Amino acid sequence: MYKLFFTIAACVLPTFAANNFYGIATANSIGGTGSYTCRSQAQWNTLAKDAKNSGFKSIRVTGFDCDALARASSAAAANGLKVLAGIYVSGSIAGAINQINNEVQLFRSAYGVYGAGRYEGLTIGNEVNDSAGNIMNKVYDVRGTYNTRCHRCIADPQLMRTGYLKSVGVTTPVSTVHTWVAIRDNPALCGADFVGANAHAFYDGNRNSGQAGDFVLKTVIPALKAKCPGKKIYITETGWPSRGNRFGSSAVASINDERTALQRLNCAARDDRSVSLYAFEYDDQNWKGNDNERSFGIFPKFDLNDVFSSC
Ligand SMILES: *[C@@H]1O[C@H](CO)[C@@H](O)[C@H](O)[C@H]1NC(C)=O
Repeated sequence: MYKLFFTIAACVLPTFAANNFYGIATANSIGGTGSYTCRSQAQWNTLAKDAKNSGFKSIRVTGFDCDALARASSAAAANGLKVLAGIYVSGSIAGAINQINNEVQLFRSAYGVYGAGRYEGLTIGNEVNDSAGNIMNKVYDVRGTYNTRCHRCIADPQLMRTGYLKSVGVTTPVSTVHTWVAIRDNPALCGADFVGANAHAFYDGNRNSGQAGDFVLKTVIPALKAKCPGKKIYITETGWPSRGNRFGSSAVASINDERTALQRLNCAARDDRSVSLYAFEYDDQNWKGNDNERSFGIFPKFDLNDVFSSC
């Protein structure tokens, strides 16, 4: 009798769709405004609650301006989310060296407050316009080497240096984020603790929205696995815009195309659980340069439970 009741109940209750993305990328500006306007603590809390309620496990912070590291960490802690903390670098590594060093100190402070378990990783730069060598020298300088069985160290004194975070007991994995094409072509960019790759079928793939998942699953991920063997891979940005011009011959920007791409990317995330995907991005960022870039926002356009229902 009870068994029959619960069987019937299980059939009529709505099934909660699986969100197979690991995280969601965020900007530090509030959504939908033409001028860059920092999110308040309350707005970060809403963001983190939305992310949690939609099944994301992590939020990616792309820069430490706007007090974003502290605010996002606090909001993440309140909602049981992890933070992938990104130091933003504008221009060259050398030109940003003081800012990077100051923000590494901010990270160390936040780590002290929120603990090792709050942080998925620390990234130095997002698609930095500098050589792979200059980027990775700074990544290694910040991180240090964790590899006690470092066979290459004798030949490569760079790897022997005692890096900063390791020397002060911070265990967060450290890397950089670049486009998947840059990493494929310069595998030095995956030499640190993990691979952080942005992959947008809209721009990179000459694909339509229905092909966005296969683009990541069958083109991007195999290329990164081949060039970065044994490294944990994060697709740190992947999404689709809802407005603006067509890109190339195939990539159409519309609400329905964004929905389709998110649905296919969620299936791709299900089909290779060794890789963690971050959906790009939480909300529209209208201060950006054109309608395509402005319109990758997911909230409040979609009911993700509906979008993800088929995977
Ligand atoms: C990248 O750096 C080079 C050399 O400094 C510069 O000429 C170029 O304009 C930069 N590109 C971008 C997109 O900022």
